[in-house]
Amino acid sequence: MPKISTADMHSTQIQKHLLDWYDQYKRDLPWRRTKDPYAIFVSEMMLQQTQVKTVIPYYGRFLEELPDWPSLAKAKEEKILKLWEGLGYYRRARNLQAAAQKIIAEFNGKLPQTREEIIKLPGVGQYSAGAVLSIAFQKPEPLVDGNVIRVFSRLFVLRGNLKTGANHEKVWEVARSLISNKRPGDFNQALMELGATVCFTDNPQCLLCPLFQFCEAAQRGIQSDLPEMPKAAKSIEVPMAALLLENKKKILVKKRNESEKWLKGFWEFPSAEGSSMDEARQKLEKEFKIKSEKKPAKDVKHQITNHKIHLSLFTASSQKPIKTTSHLKWVTAAELEELPFSSAQGKLRQWVLKNISHKK
Ligand code: ADE
Repeated sequence: MPKISTADMHSTQIQKHLLDWYDQYKRDLPWRRTKDPYAIFVSEMMLQQTQVKTVIPYYGRFLEELPDWPSLAKAKEEKILKLWEGLGYYRRARNLQAAAQKIIAEFNGKLPQTREEIIKLPGVGQYSAGAVLSIAFQKPEPLVDGNVIRVFSRLFVLRGNLKTGANHEKVWEVARSLISNKRPGDFNQALMELGATVCFTDNPQCLLCPLFQFCEAAQRGIQSDLPEMPKAAKSIEVPMAALLLENKKKILVKKRNESEKWLKGFWEFPSAEGSSMDEARQKLEKEFKIKSEKKPAKDVKHQITNHKIHLSLFTASSQKPIKTTSHLKWVTAAELEELPFSSAQGKLRQWVLKNISHKK
């Protein structure tokens, strides 16, 4: 990889062009209207791996219900999961609460203002540390995310897989040497904004780009070849059967327990994975000692990272009494709506609420 010196990068010019563009074209996003470190922290946790347009409604609801560190620290798990329902990567929600508890217990209820300390909070990696320190506290701390990687790979023609190892370190080095000391938060957000709204993966809008004249890749016409990313992992198909049991106008739901790898704490229609859908369905028949219809009442598809989940809902054709526990209960349609469900199971729930005969 070529060595890049600060002088080579025309840092001051790049900063100026980028910040002027940001001042004129930045999107009006809710977390850009606040200076509250708590609100900024919440926004950055939500924005990890998730697009701005997806986050916006969640952000507003979350802050309305849990407006500060103490309310978040004390909130019930189910409330937090409900507020996060559908946003994915649920570990973020648990980490967010753990961070609030740590901030209250160890930092006097105030977000720490150094990278060394903030990085110790659950869920805070190098990216989030840079984002929160620069945006909430105007610290000249750099950040690197997928957008920034794409922008830099083109601006300076950085080749190879920039997501790991020495190449990734190089991207951080560039971010460190380029950051604006006067407006670090705006500068970091402008870089991400450029990646999200101009420097697209496909068809980058180079003619609209404030950094066009500095962009090595655009000058050479090779912007579409960058960044050089490893091939995506192959998708894994996951057949999953879910069971719709109804009894006296109530529906059976199960809570995923703490030992589950995914989605712990979420409620769902009782379900099982199998190597085939039929095997998955038969596992449920055994577990609940029922016979189910062989044809699914509803099918949904859902992708999580590289897992393609095919989830089918089966109704029972006969059943015996079921022993309920704290993790297995009968609920009304109204109660069903209030429980935190995963995205895939949530799609089944929508269908159930529309199609069962005994609404409310
Ligand atoms: N992605 C992560 N943080 C962001 C921010 N503050 N603005 C826009 N996109 C982002």
